[in-house]
Amino acid sequence: MTLFKENFLWGAATSAYQVEGSPLADGAGPSNWHHFVHQPGTVLNGDTGDVACDHYRRYAEDVALMRQLGLNAYRFSINWSRVLPEGRGRINPAGLAFYQRLVDCLLEHGIQPCVTLFHWDLPLALDEQGGWANRDCAAWFADYAQVMFRALGDKVPLWATLNEPWVVMDAGYMHGVHAPGHRSLREVPLVAHNLLRAHALGVQAFRAEGKGQIGLVVNLEPKYAATPSLEDAAAMQRGHAYMNRWFLDGVLLGAYPEELPAMFGAHWPQFTAEDMRLLLEPFDFLGINYYTRTVNRDAPDALPPHAEPVRQEGAEYTELGWEVFPEGLTRTLLWVKQRYGNIPLYITENGAAIIDPPATQGGVADPRRVEYLRSHLLAARAAMRQGVDLRGYFAWSLLDNLEWSLGFSKPFGLVKVDFTTQQRTIKDSGYFYRDVIASRGAALG
Ligand code: FCB
Repeated sequence: MTLFKENFLWGAATSAYQVEGSPLADGAGPSNWHHFVHQPGTVLNGDTGDVACDHYRRYAEDVALMRQLGLNAYRFSINWSRVLPEGRGRINPAGLAFYQRLVDCLLEHGIQPCVTLFHWDLPLALDEQGGWANRDCAAWFADYAQVMFRALGDKVPLWATLNEPWVVMDAGYMHGVHAPGHRSLREVPLVAHNLLRAHALGVQAFRAEGKGQIGLVVNLEPKYAATPSLEDAAAMQRGHAYMNRWFLDGVLLGAYPEELPAMFGAHWPQFTAEDMRLLLEPFDFLGINYYTRTVNRDAPDALPPHAEPVRQEGAEYTELGWEVFPEGLTRTLLWVKQRYGNIPLYITENGAAIIDPPATQGGVADPRRVEYLRSHLLAARAAMRQGVDLRGYFAWSLLDNLEWSLGFSKPFGLVKVDFTTQQRTIKDSGYFYRDVIASRGAALG
């Protein structure tokens, strides 16, 4: 008996900057990612999102591919500065029209659009005013969200406010490897807090319009200790608080983990009770992006969380250096249920960066990605058997795309993209996923 219900969402995900290209077309304003990638040395091999998968112009072809795979849902994000070139105020109708065309095309093919409002590309104009370190950014986000709810609310049943706020904070403001490229311990807690305030204000704006469901997407990784020592156990706890609990405790418990003030010392601000109450604004579902686990050892001199990852002898790693660890997905889903309650969940991203052979007449053989998908879907099913309310699964990604500062060197797609010709070829993993969908999970074995 399959546990995957008739209305289970079988999707694939992308994000605007990673696939669209045409970043300044039709009156769009620049995003901070557009600006960032054009600074020397920021992206491997000097790759940029100027063309990417050319999805902005080839979306109809891509929707046809989704159809071929049998997807019933597509998760994509909006480039905020296409719609509001200065980030606030003036609307650019031509930018909005692109997303209207995409949504209509999906609906015509029986594919449910699932929109993420913020997947890391912030309008440059707002970045220049401090970006997420500026408290006002939360209200700017809510105003932008309202524009989108009004434009697409009748047609889009599932919305996410933010994608992985942790990465924005950690990669963008602590380590400087993502836009806006800051390295500021002082900004990090402010950015995290303003992102969550933005989420809460976005949910409030959504309630005012009153259609569909809205949630938050976070990336979670179970943490393990490298040795049984007390130091490594504490490093594991800090890593867990920093990455997994910070955002979820914030929006579901209304308090930040007590490990954080100690980690940030003088950089940890006081947050008002009013702000913390705001964060508790109820939302409808949680999206979980799951890729791997980390094994931590104590690293007192490192940046917060003062822990560093240890590679596991004999384990399988993907091209991103991420260990393949499917049981971590079961554990993560169960942990969320046990700590925060039986919230409706979606796996909003899951996938593997693996170098593929060239496409041939026979397609693209990617057996390791097939195995990755199979083992993680089985791990998800195991959690459902234990009562987790999982309502959908989105493979990352539909297409090979721009893996942020790693450029085009890390393919995640179910569909291979030749970036010189823009030719698409469905990989074996795409066909495997198609069979899983068609059999409602029976093809998993
Ligand atoms: C996640 C991001 C997504 C993609 C995958 C590999 O952190 O949300 O855009 O880059 O990792």
